[in-house]
Amino acid sequence: MARILVTGGTGYIGSHTVVELIQKGYDVVIVDNLSNSNKDMLDGIAAIVGKQPDFEQVDCNDATALADVMNRYADIQAVIHFAASKAVGESVEQPLLYYRNNLMSLVTLLEQMKAHGIQHIVFSSSCTVYGQPSAEHLPVDETAPIQVALSPYGNTKQINEEIIRDEAHANAALHATILRYFNPIGAHPSAMIGELPNGVPNNLLPFVTQTAAGLRQQLRVYGNDYNTPDGSCIRDYIYVVDLARAHVKAVERMLSGQAAEQVEVFNLGTGRGLSVLEIVNTFMQVTGVNVPYEIVGRREGDIEQVWAKPDKANNVLGWKADTPIEEVLLSAWNWEKKLRGIE
Ligand code: NAD
Ligand code: WQD
Repeated sequence: MARILVTGGTGYIGSHTVVELIQKGYDVVIVDNLSNSNKDMLDGIAAIVGKQPDFEQVDCNDATALADVMNRYADIQAVIHFAASKAVGESVEQPLLYYRNNLMSLVTLLEQMKAHGIQHIVFSSSCTVYGQPSAEHLPVDETAPIQVALSPYGNTKQINEEIIRDEAHANAALHATILRYFNPIGAHPSAMIGELPNGVPNNLLPFVTQTAAGLRQQLRVYGNDYNTPDGSCIRDYIYVVDLARAHVKAVERMLSGQAAEQVEVFNLGTGRGLSVLEIVNTFMQVTGVNVPYEIVGRREGDIEQVWAKPDKANNVLGWKADTPIEEVLLSAWNWEKKLRGIE
């Protein structure tokens, strides 16, 4: 079976993907600089799959170290590139850090892939590239226009996509799959791996679970005066395990030569939009735990509503995100309980 190099593989989505890859029989080598993750994640992965994946503590900006990994693991056939900085607010404060880390790591990786004859890459992009789609583009498919990014982070995803297209144009051997994730949430059903937010969470689900666990006094719901049925924002929340499985499909498709184009793009979402209040209320229902919340003003830069039309991924990739939201929210709560030692 082929070996897959997973950058950012001790991170949130990367660790879940490593589990799915190993369970499908792939060999994996993780490259991560541990800037936003913990080596303990390797034990979590091992607890699920029964063995530790190979791990190299390497920065993707370090060409020499990357070359060394590719030399030592000569059977690498594809790369899944998760490694990036991802905090939207921090990217506004420190844009150069984001441009350096997210752009240079991809450039360095593509250079080393070419030098080592590795011809397949899966790239983590984001629905953030669509901004607020107009009503005619909702739900949003892959042909919807890319809009000017609202943050340096979002801009790095757009530029990364362009870098991949330009390199594929110049290098006929390169095949790429760009996956645009909607809002990944939840944790592995074993509660052995999950999200490890740094400091006060910005994302909704970690804030909800931390409030339920008593770490935060109350959740602030940012706005109930949007043009949506209950006035709160709408997103397409996708279970991280479903998302992880899409990466395996993308790798399989490229390695078996089925890709119809040199660069393929897929939206990864459920096709269903849920509001902030629906998420909070469903969480309370399925867990039986109260989440105190107050409605506050809108958060700057928030998109009112966006959800995916995942038909291309469903039909072409043969993948569907079908885990019920109740199960997903319970998995997030079980992970939080495990982290905090709550019975
Ligand atoms: P994460 O922070 O949990 O994982 C990213 C991993 O990359 C971390 O383990 C970090 O230590 C590592 N890393 C960062 N810079 C590195 C570098 N230069 N060299 C080596 N390792 C490095 O984030 P995640 O949520 O798992 O996101 C994975 C990818 O998916 C990112 O590219 C992110 O932008 C993208 N994405 C995430 C979301 C989301 O909401 N989580 C949505 C859309 C897209
Ligand atoms: C979801 C909804 C908030 C926290 C961000 C990035 C995006 C992507 C995913 C990577 C919104 C509301 C949140 C809180 C709240 N990442 N909310 N109270 O903003 O859709 O997307 O993460 O690519 O690029 O921008 O996700 O989880 O922050 O917010 O009311 O304490 O929850 O207003 O409506 P978002 P989120």
